[in-house]
Amino acid sequence: MNDVAAPENPGTTDIGGKSMASGCKVAIVGATGEVGRALLAALEEAELPLAEVHALASAGSTEETVMFKGRGLLVSALDEFDFARADIAIFAVPADVASEYVPRARSAGCRVIDHSTAYRLDAAVPLVADGMPVPSADLVACPSALAALLLPVLKSVSGIRAVNVTVLEPVSVAGRAGVRELAGQTGELLNGRGVEAAAFPVQIAFNALPVPGPESAEALMDELERLLDLSVPVVLSAVRVPVFYGLTVAVTLETEADEDLGRWRQRLAKAGLHFENGEEDQELVTPVTQAAREAGLYVADLQPLPAPLRGLRLWLVGDNLRQGVARQSLHVLGNWIKDFKY
Ligand SMILES: NC(=O)c1ccc[n+]([C@@H]2O[C@H](COP(=O)([O-])OP(=O)(O)OC[C@H]3O[C@@H](n4cnc5c(N)ncnc54)[C@H](OP(=O)(O)O)[C@@H]3O)[C@@H](O)[C@H]2O)c1
Repeated sequence: MNDVAAPENPGTTDIGGKSMASGCKVAIVGATGEVGRALLAALEEAELPLAEVHALASAGSTEETVMFKGRGLLVSALDEFDFARADIAIFAVPADVASEYVPRARSAGCRVIDHSTAYRLDAAVPLVADGMPVPSADLVACPSALAALLLPVLKSVSGIRAVNVTVLEPVSVAGRAGVRELAGQTGELLNGRGVEAAAFPVQIAFNALPVPGPESAEALMDELERLLDLSVPVVLSAVRVPVFYGLTVAVTLETEADEDLGRWRQRLAKAGLHFENGEEDQELVTPVTQAAREAGLYVADLQPLPAPLRGLRLWLVGDNLRQGVARQSLHVLGNWIKDFKY
């Protein structure tokens, strides 16, 4: 027995105490990871018609269970799974693992949504974010969490000439290993002991680690071009901070023309962004208080750029896992379930 509770009647599967004879059979590939667990939590809340949920991970995790609707799903080994048993698989594994197993899933007739970098910039694979039309392909890629958070902001502002982003990254962007390292180092240091770094190049607890290299700026620029047809210079700075969940992003957008701040505010609110403190933008928004493990995007400190510059700047806060990842693939999943009548 691997995934959902064993069906009492052939052809039906019991999920969360509710018997279903039909519905979509979903596999979460990488179910033991940070993204996989966030996907399961989001699936629980989504109330989609699901017949089966398969939790897959490496062979080393087959003794583990992951929680779904108050019950433990036993994890199955990815390398032994027959993808013909699933209608749709959401992949949340490293890119090299996705590259190996996504083709297997597709050739077994299973549609795939991938969260890794394996197909994100592949012109043959649609890149789909929340709110975008979902193609009837058998594979779609989802954007990076940062691109997913920026998208509603960038869509709301016209005439963008340059994008300048500084992102404070939580340790969960490095997966479970990152989360464990921050927790472990914090405990050791508070107890007066020394620490070793493994998931990060040096100590992350009580520290800030600038992420070097223009590679990620290029990747973000490519993603924005694919998602928005926006081809403008992007300056990206990233710092890993000792926060578990939630991205904090300082965004500066240079625009062709000046715009009334109220208009920008209206457009951002229409795009679903939350402003703290009603009409005032002075309230603090932080990953811990607003965003960690929740869907939703929060804006604070929206300001025009000082002359002679034109444009705006703001703080943006959203969870990398629930908003940046799970919301994106559940958009695709929900549409596919509707379109293909699973
Ligand atoms: N974390 C983020 O904020 C974020 C945001 C956007 C996209 N992503 C992408 O999402 C993917 C997962 O990230 P994560 O943060 O969830 O990482 P993670 O916490 O390290 O989890 C990795 C998952 O992949 C599984 N896995 C690793 N190697 C495997 C193998 N050879 N066969 C089968 N399963 C294997 C692991 O299973 P075991 O437990 O058995 O090892 C675990 O379930 C990555 O591609 C990442 O780039 C992450």
